[in-house]
Amino acid sequence: MTKHDATAATEWWRHGIVYQVYLRSFADGNGDGTGDVAGLRNKLGYLNELGVDALWINPWYSSPLKDGGYDVSDYRSIDERFGTIEEVELFIAEAHDLGIKIIADLVPNHTSDQHCWFQEALAAAPSHPARDRYIFRPGKGPDGSEPPTNWTAVFGGSAWERVADGEWYLHIFDTSQPDLNWQHDDVRAEFDDIFRFWLDRGIDGFRIDVAHGLVKDLSFPDVAESAVILESERSTDHPFWDRDGVHEIIRRWRSVLDEYDNRMMVAEAWVAADRLPLYLRPDEYHQSFNFDLLTTDWDASQFTEVIKSSVEAANSVNAPSTWVLSNHDVMRHATRYGLPAGTKWRKWPVIGPYEALDQIKGTRRARAAALISLSLPGSTYIYQGEELGLPEVWDLPEDILDDPTWERSGHTEKGRDGCRVPLPWEIDGPSFGFGSGAPWMPQPASFGSLSVAAQVEDTNSMLSLYRRAIRLRRDHLAHLEDFSLVDLGADVLAYARGADILVVANMGTKPIQRPEGKVLISSDPQPGHLLQPDSSVWIVNES
Ligand code: GLC
Repeated sequence: MTKHDATAATEWWRHGIVYQVYLRSFADGNGDGTGDVAGLRNKLGYLNELGVDALWINPWYSSPLKDGGYDVSDYRSIDERFGTIEEVELFIAEAHDLGIKIIADLVPNHTSDQHCWFQEALAAAPSHPARDRYIFRPGKGPDGSEPPTNWTAVFGGSAWERVADGEWYLHIFDTSQPDLNWQHDDVRAEFDDIFRFWLDRGIDGFRIDVAHGLVKDLSFPDVAESAVILESERSTDHPFWDRDGVHEIIRRWRSVLDEYDNRMMVAEAWVAADRLPLYLRPDEYHQSFNFDLLTTDWDASQFTEVIKSSVEAANSVNAPSTWVLSNHDVMRHATRYGLPAGTKWRKWPVIGPYEALDQIKGTRRARAAALISLSLPGSTYIYQGEELGLPEVWDLPEDILDDPTWERSGHTEKGRDGCRVPLPWEIDGPSFGFGSGAPWMPQPASFGSLSVAAQVEDTNSMLSLYRRAIRLRRDHLAHLEDFSLVDLGADVLAYARGADILVVANMGTKPIQRPEGKVLISSDPQPGHLLQPDSSVWIVNES
């Protein structure tokens, strides 16, 4: 093994393709309508064929599923709807046999209100030490009937909830997700132990939920702005986002991970670009999600700028950049790219105008975007179903919406169910092969023609494009650090990788001349000498 190979093996996250599994909607192995570990194990062959290096599994712990599992009631057990610890151990071993790493999702900012600590806190009297593991406070006003601060929750409404004896507790997400008090020794010690519990079971990495929110300003100042999830531009002096105190906690976790070989952690940190490198110092996170591409309109100059600044920021701290087009919290990009630039896509499913959507254009752009995100330096995260080109199911009936956002926003945002609809595996049949029974969230009829079975033999399908691109990336690009932008005109995103590979995306409205060289792969099923609008290509210079 050369030195380069050895580094690649130990620092597998630096160039990997990480596939995000939203377990509940991936594959249902026991026919109860909810995806599970058994279903996931059945599909390991599919994931291996796709060519991914690692899987990130959304929370699988015991949970009332008030927020899709981000409300954990027991961090050391698997929810019975998802499976058992024994099945998870088998799954990890099977994935490792295929050379696939497993990243678990850890939720340290809050527990479920059903967690034994919170139940203990509720049973205790006001000011009792059992309440100190969370953030309980008396209310304001003569009878304490007003919340302690004006802070709003990410899902809408006040960030405080009053309990029967009159005290209030903090929840920056749903009321069912009380925030932990990270100044408390019990909390810190408990999470050290939870990390070790999963590391001992062979977990290779952790995606850390709300990594920028753990530390609160306990002087409780009121704020001018409301809490918004998934937005990075905010001041550095917010009472619960991106406070300097988070870094000592991160360093503590890192020292636990460093007791083991080859493990990593990736931060979900929605912080301003100039603050992100702080999370990536050598004794903190190995990498952080970079959501800038995900929030960028389909526009060559914006893409160019975001890619340039992301690569520079990552290089400045010697961390790998990461690329994300979609995840379980945002509108699927095949639909996002079909909406006019500047559309507020969180609001659009409620306010329209619906005729603004051009789904065919969105899908064409999603193909082009795949060849961008899979050719950039660093690691690329794929959200389940993007390899099938699934659109957002934005018109789900209101009475079946599950995401707390819908109720807590006062029905101004439908929330995130539309990107979490169960995957179609077969062209027809109950739930398009997702499971044997009705799925927990209904699938639209259009899912049949987007299913894995419908795409797998079709060389022009989105699935075939992803498979080919991932294979070519492994052969030609994966370990190249070099990246340099190339100017091919205002509407074109172009960059060179290594000495002889050029990536070109035409993001304008007119065809352009394709540069010389052999086409390795094209997002256009019928590539010619012209590069059509909304298409991209990898070219190799053979001279
Ligand atoms: C993260 C998760 C999101 C969840 C929230 C609260 O942003 O990605 O799904 O609702 O944290 O845990």
